[in-house]
Amino acid sequence: MGSGGREHALAWKLAQSRLCGKLFASPGNPGIAEHAELVELNAENHAAVLAFCEAQRIGLVVIGPEAPLVDGLADSLRGAGVPVFGPSKAAAQLEGSKAFTKELCERHGIPTAGFRRVTTEAEGLTALAAFPIPVVIKADGLAAGKGVTVAMTQAEAEGAVREIFSGRFGAAGAEAVIEEFMDGEEASFFAITDGHTVVPFGSAQDHKRVGDGDVGPNTGGMGAYSPARVLTPLLEAEALERIIVPTVQGMAAEGMPYSGVLYAGLMLTREGVKLIEYNARFGDPECQVLMLRYEGDLAELLLATAESRLATLPSPRFSDDTALTVVIAAKGYPDAPVKGGAIGGIAAAEASGAKVFHAGTALNGDELVANGGRVLNATARANSVSAAQQAAYAAAEKIYFPDGFYRRDIGWREAEREAKDQA
Ligand code: AMP
Ligand code: GLY
Repeated sequence: MGSGGREHALAWKLAQSRLCGKLFASPGNPGIAEHAELVELNAENHAAVLAFCEAQRIGLVVIGPEAPLVDGLADSLRGAGVPVFGPSKAAAQLEGSKAFTKELCERHGIPTAGFRRVTTEAEGLTALAAFPIPVVIKADGLAAGKGVTVAMTQAEAEGAVREIFSGRFGAAGAEAVIEEFMDGEEASFFAITDGHTVVPFGSAQDHKRVGDGDVGPNTGGMGAYSPARVLTPLLEAEALERIIVPTVQGMAAEGMPYSGVLYAGLMLTREGVKLIEYNARFGDPECQVLMLRYEGDLAELLLATAESRLATLPSPRFSDDTALTVVIAAKGYPDAPVKGGAIGGIAAAEASGAKVFHAGTALNGDELVANGGRVLNATARANSVSAAQQAAYAAAEKIYFPDGFYRRDIGWREAEREAKDQA
């Protein structure tokens, strides 16, 4: 279920599984159509999705994006006996409510920024007094990545509180969380769990700002690479032991077992690894780089997770290579992406081994056109960061998309680290 670059990467990998007889995607995109039969199901109409699954005797549903998870699609399918990869509505609160997650962390001693949960503007403005600047203000619910402000002044902090309670984020802004600012480098860490067994599933870093040098407005992510070597094996073990495992155990103990992929946004602070936030799904574009490095059978892994028998499988294996993806976006993204721009050159871009995942594309007759903000992901794998970077950019350059643009510096942090290590 889903239609972005993340879902193209999942479909590409699922199609390679020895367990995968027939793959459907809803709604999918023209890239996904190379691996799957596209169907149009309304993800909000659970009865319609279930009827399709029963008619086609679907053996596994993989839900890509957060909205249907938070909406309880996994419960509706699982309740009718359809195996699903993705958490229940209750468990997806880990992404759907910042306050839920902060309170879970508090109950289980999971390291994260100190916080206050507030339900009115007045309460929020008063609570700010207890936090030094910078301070972080978050709308409680899903706000399409727009609900978080890292305020560098008191005025900005107050403005962010007022904005949330002005109704700008709808139901997502009925409550807010005010958080202590954490200083450090961010890394994303993925774990797969069936509610009991937890297995690490790789690390990544993404670039959220639209412009080179990490400037300009926030986006869904303009590029990513995996692994994030800043998350050393020691730090990864710390994250598992102090953050991921207590979360999975806490959720199970509280009657909301979490099944699916748990995507932890981590801050590597001087006092140790702390949780910034959870997502209840794979990252986009982080999933694209994970799939290029993952060496196992994805359907086997996701089905074992759905069927609560993850303990019977060997731990996921990844290539030691670096994978790097460059997001090619439509001009105007993230505010007002130009729609309909012509696209070509994908076969040429893939000729030397890179993989181009489709994110926001559509067919206009026979012609491939842009149909979204993030349009394509030029993705490559190599035995060094700089080689992966070169290969991904060589692929991006072969793509014809005059209405598009991309950042020129994806992976700069990791490439600098690598250059330093080699010096
Ligand atoms: P979130 O949507 O919670 O991931 O927040 C978006 C971004 O805001 C994160 O990727 C961080 O860069 C930043 N952020 C969120 N919470 C904090 C915090 N407590 N301290 C510092 N930065 C934060
Ligand atoms: N790339 C960030 C996310 O998927 O949330």
